[in-house]
Amino acid sequence: MRIAGICQTAFIPRQPAFRGNCGYEIIPEDNLAKTQNSKLTQTTHFFRDVESLEFIGKHFANKDKIKVLVGACSSGEEAWTLQMLLGRKAKIEGFDLGKSAVNQANSGIIYIRDPEKSHDFNLGYADAYLGYEGLFYQHKAPQRAMFNEYFEKVRTKPEVATFKVKEDKKDLIKFFRADITNLKPCVEKGAYDALTFRNALYLLVSGHPIGGRVSRPPQVALVLDNACKNINYALKPGGLFVLGELSHDHDNESGQMVYRALKRNGFALAFTQDYDKVTVWKKKWDMNI
Ligand SMILES: C[S@@+](CC[C@H](N)C(=O)[O-])C[C@H]1O[C@@H](n2cnc3c(N)ncnc32)[C@H](O)[C@@H]1O
Repeated sequence: MRIAGICQTAFIPRQPAFRGNCGYEIIPEDNLAKTQNSKLTQTTHFFRDVESLEFIGKHFANKDKIKVLVGACSSGEEAWTLQMLLGRKAKIEGFDLGKSAVNQANSGIIYIRDPEKSHDFNLGYADAYLGYEGLFYQHKAPQRAMFNEYFEKVRTKPEVATFKVKEDKKDLIKFFRADITNLKPCVEKGAYDALTFRNALYLLVSGHPIGGRVSRPPQVALVLDNACKNINYALKPGGLFVLGELSHDHDNESGQMVYRALKRNGFALAFTQDYDKVTVWKKKWDMNI
């Protein structure tokens, strides 16, 4: 049973914080039946929940090359964070159901808003994890240095800075549209050492934008089985599946359903940290789909 959880953001000090993507897009119509949500919440930022991404690097420390599929990649910040952490030994691809999210990710353009100068400062979704221009969060300097290696500033307005991925890095990651419940047409079987689908699986489970109660458990269990079978399909034997850190991926009815579906579909818990805030699962056997 998990004790720490949704209040994780309470630990971010109330200081100027540079926000990542806080947008959303309407879910494609042909996907409505498969999900309990009508919106695709795109919230993401650099270095979010970095422990579970670092775990991938530690786990594969002895391998020269690894292939990672970043699912629910939103506008790309998570995939780029992983690339910064793993360097050139990693071949990374990203996918998302959202059309505008994938277009944004492929453009290589990143907007980072300065909540001090905009009016909707909202504690939490901070690229405070990144730090910014030496003004604060000095202890985030290593992340900032990694970011500077990959991104350059192309424009600054009073409330938003625009960055673009550098020319020599832009071809490192390709982003494509795909649905976690139907990956088979888009990916090769057993091609990936690790697959992440962080802070998103709960969207298939609960009608509430941030998870919680499950309204139609039997249908939801089928959708989750489908998602887990597709994750299993994409991973190599022994490959890792990384679940997000948001409490609704773990807690309550929705989280428990996610855990049960993973166990039914060939996964065992490989790593937990911080009262299960970080969970990584290992593929134990092949599922047929
Ligand atoms: C809250 S964001 C999480 C972004 C990122 N993984 C992170 O942790 O920062 C959820 C993302 O999941 C995507 N998504 C929702 N349902 C999906 C599905 N069935 N297949 C692929 N992506 C999906 C949404 O479009 C959205 O970009």
